[in-house]
Amino acid sequence: MKFAERLSTIDISGIRKMFELAKAGDVINLALGEPDFGIPPSAKQAIVSGLDRDFTHYTPNKGIEELRSAIAEKLRRENGINASGEDIIVTSGASEALHIAIMALVEPGDEVLVPSPGFVSYSPLVRLVGGAPVSYALRESDAFEPRVSALEEKLTERTKLIIVNSPSNPTGAVFSRRTVREIAKLAEREGIALLSDEVYERIIYEGEHHSFARYYPETITVNGFSKSYAMTGLRLGYVHAPNEAIEEMLKIHQYIQASTVSLSQLAALAALEQGEEHVREMVARFKQRRDLIMKELREIPGVACVPPKGAFYAFPNFSEYGSSQELAMELLKYAKVVVTPGTAFGKEGEGYLRFSFATSEENIIEGMRRIKHYLEARR
Ligand SMILES: Cc1ncc(COP(=O)(O)O)c(C=O)c1O
Repeated sequence: MKFAERLSTIDISGIRKMFELAKAGDVINLALGEPDFGIPPSAKQAIVSGLDRDFTHYTPNKGIEELRSAIAEKLRRENGINASGEDIIVTSGASEALHIAIMALVEPGDEVLVPSPGFVSYSPLVRLVGGAPVSYALRESDAFEPRVSALEEKLTERTKLIIVNSPSNPTGAVFSRRTVREIAKLAEREGIALLSDEVYERIIYEGEHHSFARYYPETITVNGFSKSYAMTGLRLGYVHAPNEAIEEMLKIHQYIQASTVSLSQLAALAALEQGEEHVREMVARFKQRRDLIMKELREIPGVACVPPKGAFYAFPNFSEYGSSQELAMELLKYAKVVVTPGTAFGKEGEGYLRFSFATSEENIIEGMRRIKHYLEARR
């Protein structure tokens, strides 16, 4: 078979590769990108009762009306976004939302600013539509918040879109209101759309979440239920944007997806209406684990780590120990612990490792014990 040329521009994600390796024997996995909790009981119940009444057919393309109204209400109440259910598409995970947003806006040759280190999907999705990802650096010395000047430097006549992500994967940064406002102002001044990925908005330990769309209406907001409600396998996300953008994205969504999973939509609605307690408990557990992993990391000589304010990843600087890729492979081979090399998230991730603390306290303690033991012997 002869495959489309566009596929030669992308590769299987570095994280997927680590996952494959993690399957071997007695390995502790600190590379997971999903909560290790169940979904809220109300969401489970909604799926069961949906099945009982055969709620297993196509739904409206944009998603069921009750869910879109509930999402719009949440966006107005919590995010300060003047949303209506008509301006929302319920998607197959935030992943699909990112895809249709990029597809609707980016033409071949257009440039899209992407964070580096940043979530693994941004650049490949841009390349798949013939666009050119242009990375802007996030620096440890700025606690991984973007500098507006770093974005400004990268703007050209061909810049079509700026992708922002707070709370951030892989760094755990939560942008201040000031950063959000300044980036929004820059985008407005330059007339460039923003694509704001807010999937970790509920998982915050310090600081507050600020939505870009509150400050700049030409923002496409992507969010979902995977992280907040531990619903990764139910594949449910959504996108909110000005109505004209939603109608364009809908053209793509209706042909590639028709509508997303009916039962997952019921689960999402129940989670929004009754899942609050579940989220609070989960975030409290993540916070304990964050404190635990920070304590463990501080005990490793030569390693510094900006405490993550959100998401469930620590992104320590291991540059004293060699290149990220080689070190991650060594830790897997000799310490039997999987972590993700920082370079999986862009070249500015060199020198860093991403540790996920979406796993049990026992796994964190044992994983860190093995790593410390190995690194001590290596020294
Ligand atoms: C920053 C970020 N955005 C989007 C996603 C995709 O989430 P979903 O499961 O909703 O497709 C992830 C998943 O890891 C992520 O980390």
